[in-house]
Amino acid sequence: MSDLHYADPRLVPLYDLLNAGDEDHRFYEARIGAAPLKIVDLGCGTGVFAVRLARQGHAVTGVDPAPAMLDVARARPGGDLPTWVLGDAEAFRGRFDVAVMTGHAFQCLLTDAAMLQTFDQVRARLDRGGRFMFETRNPKARAWDGWTPEASSQVLDLGGGNQVRLSHEVLALDGEQVRFQTRHRFMPAGDEVVSRSTLRFAPRAMIEQGLRAAGFGRVDWFGDWEGGALSAGSSEMIAVATAE
Ligand SMILES: C[S@@+](CC[C@H](N)C(=O)[O-])C[C@H]1O[C@@H](n2cnc3c(N)ncnc32)[C@H](O)[C@@H]1O
Repeated sequence: MSDLHYADPRLVPLYDLLNAGDEDHRFYEARIGAAPLKIVDLGCGTGVFAVRLARQGHAVTGVDPAPAMLDVARARPGGDLPTWVLGDAEAFRGRFDVAVMTGHAFQCLLTDAAMLQTFDQVRARLDRGGRFMFETRNPKARAWDGWTPEASSQVLDLGGGNQVRLSHEVLALDGEQVRFQTRHRFMPAGDEVVSRSTLRFAPRAMIEQGLRAAGFGRVDWFGDWEGGALSAGSSEMIAVATAE
């Protein structure tokens, strides 16, 4: 994982401050239900959702290729409940009822090969009727248009009189891939860390085709966290795919 914001010890602690909402978690857990299931959280990051599911009684495995993210996951309250695995979809073993990939982790799969391999690996770990749920930003909504220093600037309070100002800037649009940088200016010290990242905005038809090729049948699509229908203007494309 080369993305600094999943690796740099100064940036990893910012992740949870930047992603404090839980509407996505509520969406997925409503579909998971209350009966205890075996769940794998692929690209689990700092482990917020994995721990939340484990506290609800599910047997959870959190998988992530970024060691610094897993360090935060292990250290959080309840971090002893899930099983943590360092790696990607190839790294985990066992059988699961549900696989989730949240926080747009799916967009880290930059190529067709990476996406299809992930679908194959996840499908191989699910029984018939098992579900793979994930979301990706809708390319038609062009979220990257708002990733300008002016439109994306925000200040996070780190406590103790410390703050960080963040802003995004797109460096290159290359087909479905968007390369961008995030500038972090730590205050009052004034020092700066710049991280670079690439995300893929894959179209729905291609994702659905890949899911079917991997052995998923029904795919339900949603366009927002309230469960609304997916439309051209939806910012999210949320997939619930069932293994056949
Ligand atoms: C934006 S974070 C999302 C973290 C977490 N799921 C959440 O909702 O907060 C994306 C995560 O995907 C992980 N990741 C990157 N490439 C991956 C891959 N090929 N397979 C699984 N996870 C990956 C990164 O290390 C990072 O922790």
